[in-house]
Amino acid sequence: MSLEAIKFDKSDIKLSILDQLLIPYQTKYVDVKSIGDGYDVIKKMQVRGAPAIAIVGCFSVVVELYRIIELGELTSLRYNIQDLEELKERLTQRLDFLISSRPTAVNLLNGCNEIKELMVKASSVRELYNSIKEFSVKLFEDDLVNNKRIGDNGCDYIFNELSKENFKGEFSVLTICNTGSLATSGHGTALGIVRSLWARSKLSGAESSESWLSHVYACETRPYNQGSRLTAYELDYEKIPFSLITDNMVSFLVDSLVNERKDRGLPSLAPIKFIIVGADRIVKNGDLANKIGTFQLSLIASQYPSIKFIGAAPWTTIDLNKDSGDEIVIEQRPANELTSVMGGELDETGTVLQKDASSKIKLTKVKLAPMDISVWNPAFDVTPHKFIDSIVTEESYLTKDSQGSFTLAR
Ligand code: MRU
Repeated sequence: MSLEAIKFDKSDIKLSILDQLLIPYQTKYVDVKSIGDGYDVIKKMQVRGAPAIAIVGCFSVVVELYRIIELGELTSLRYNIQDLEELKERLTQRLDFLISSRPTAVNLLNGCNEIKELMVKASSVRELYNSIKEFSVKLFEDDLVNNKRIGDNGCDYIFNELSKENFKGEFSVLTICNTGSLATSGHGTALGIVRSLWARSKLSGAESSESWLSHVYACETRPYNQGSRLTAYELDYEKIPFSLITDNMVSFLVDSLVNERKDRGLPSLAPIKFIIVGADRIVKNGDLANKIGTFQLSLIASQYPSIKFIGAAPWTTIDLNKDSGDEIVIEQRPANELTSVMGGELDETGTVLQKDASSKIKLTKVKLAPMDISVWNPAFDVTPHKFIDSIVTEESYLTKDSQGSFTLAR
């Protein structure tokens, strides 16, 4: 069984999301009953990850329309279901509001734009609702299929690169943020490649003469800790061998492995051959916006010819309307995400002090910095395409041409 970030009941038209603010301490689903709820869970990051945001956003539109059209509820939202043109106008306003929840990931914008196109074509309220529902269910279901394809294409790129340099034996990979089941409808993108690599490596086994994945390094991913809270949870759940590191350990880790420093207490001596990251938006020239900290990983990889840097994303993350990464709007997050942290209280022996009735850790928020200080908290950065070796999508893996350019076209 894999982790389910999003649950959608197709017959009762009910949507709920796993509250990712509580993971890994508690497992709680939250109902999403309108576009307003969708906006809130996305903005608060109870659901996060570019594909998951888009799916939840689109499903929230379906739920809202269902309650209005089928159940006659949500009258305060001022929809007029007797007049198709008025309904379309109101829905356009609601979609624009939804899109404003998180600006950097393009998937939600792409999804809402598709809904707008369906709206233009619809000649009745029922047709409009049915087509949006059909589109949203397909977005959800296709995402899983596409992630598995990304996993396969990523493995093909990786094993091809390894065989080009005649590399044999065990290797490690490094990743940042959470790009797994929790960020998608399942399997994941960058973490999907890790999952697929692990599945293939288990099959080939250590006795094989080929190369195989034996260790994963997960960056903690400050300030929101998607790496330590979510990726560590997923890797642990799947029993994939991994070590958690802080974001500022990467260059020392890479250098220690390259120089085979057995004296540094490394958890594995398998060299890091690939840094694999997800994306929130990849533009025409291949520049890639992803979680803050990604850019510095690409700079580190660029200093080591033995390490390739891979960006993995479905086509729903690709934005051919922007020529370069300079045009991407970077979301700024509130200061308190950086100056405080949520967790369980420990005693001096490291034992959790308080648990609730069902033995789940009781959460408290702890301040980490002085009060009222200046904070800069961009949620994402942009990795220039010159530092990316491959972009892996569900369709193929892309590499650069002799001019150093990616051709991102379908
Ligand atoms: O702020 P988040 O947690 O939504 O950021 C998520 C990322 O940056 C992911 O790497 C990206 O969305 C790809 S998820 C498959």
